[in-house]
Amino acid sequence: MKKRSFIFAILLCVFISIFIFRPRSESSPVINNPSPDTFGDSITTPSEDESNIPSESNADEEVEEEEKEVDLLEETSHIDDDGKVIVDNTDDILVLVNKNRNLPSDYVPDDLVVPNVRFTFEGFDEKKQMRKEAAEALEELFKAAEEEGIYLFAVSGYRSYNRQKYLFDTRAARDGFEEANKLTAYPGQSEHQTGLAMDVSCQSVGFDLTQKFGQTVEGIWLKENAHKFGFIIRYQEDKVDITGYSYEPWHIRYVGKEAAKEIYERNITLEEYLGA
Ligand code: DAL
Ligand code: ZN
Repeated sequence: MKKRSFIFAILLCVFISIFIFRPRSESSPVINNPSPDTFGDSITTPSEDESNIPSESNADEEVEEEEKEVDLLEETSHIDDDGKVIVDNTDDILVLVNKNRNLPSDYVPDDLVVPNVRFTFEGFDEKKQMRKEAAEALEELFKAAEEEGIYLFAVSGYRSYNRQKYLFDTRAARDGFEEANKLTAYPGQSEHQTGLAMDVSCQSVGFDLTQKFGQTVEGIWLKENAHKFGFIIRYQEDKVDITGYSYEPWHIRYVGKEAAKEIYERNITLEEYLGA
């Protein structure tokens, strides 16, 4: 009986030893026997993903942002049968019209009014008009200028497609297409057709639309204050390669206060602001 107990005790010890020193691989399968999926999960937890490659995720966001901006411009236009880009968001305060983006030839804003400001000429003319929101902003701008002893004069606002065509054709016949197109937009490509632009001058330059206006106290005041009323100097001296037009210190374009402030503060063009 004693011998049997002894054998039983030995067997018990053997079993216990086998249990204690059994291989551990089954308890940690991910480390010892990784499948491609579980291995991936085990080394890239979501938090590691975010913290380890911030520059890549920022880059992704920037690319997405740029694509959105490009999309926005593509979404707001279509290509006509002649291959010309025609803008669809004609009534948008931020509509982008330039040498690459045309207004439809029959576009006429439906809320044109004559702003109550000082003009260089008497009587009604189509070119006295602006879209209502822009006209009201212009009235505020002229009033604020006057309060500081600055007397601005409005020269030319809304121009129909046909009026722009007449102006362009006349200048192109005189100076050639290229030269004319440095200061005068091809019909359909003028911001004046949007009803959101106004040319402004002052007495000391004979009420002319001349680059000298940029050095007058009125021109300097306009450059420094237009954004407070939602306007930008659209064709800046150092942005000719982007806008495609020569310096026009007299041409102000209404874009709303928020956009105007950012464009002014960042010293950028409307093209850059809209990601064109
Ligand atoms: N002078 C600007 C470019 C226009 O004709 O619209
Ligand atoms: Zn103009």
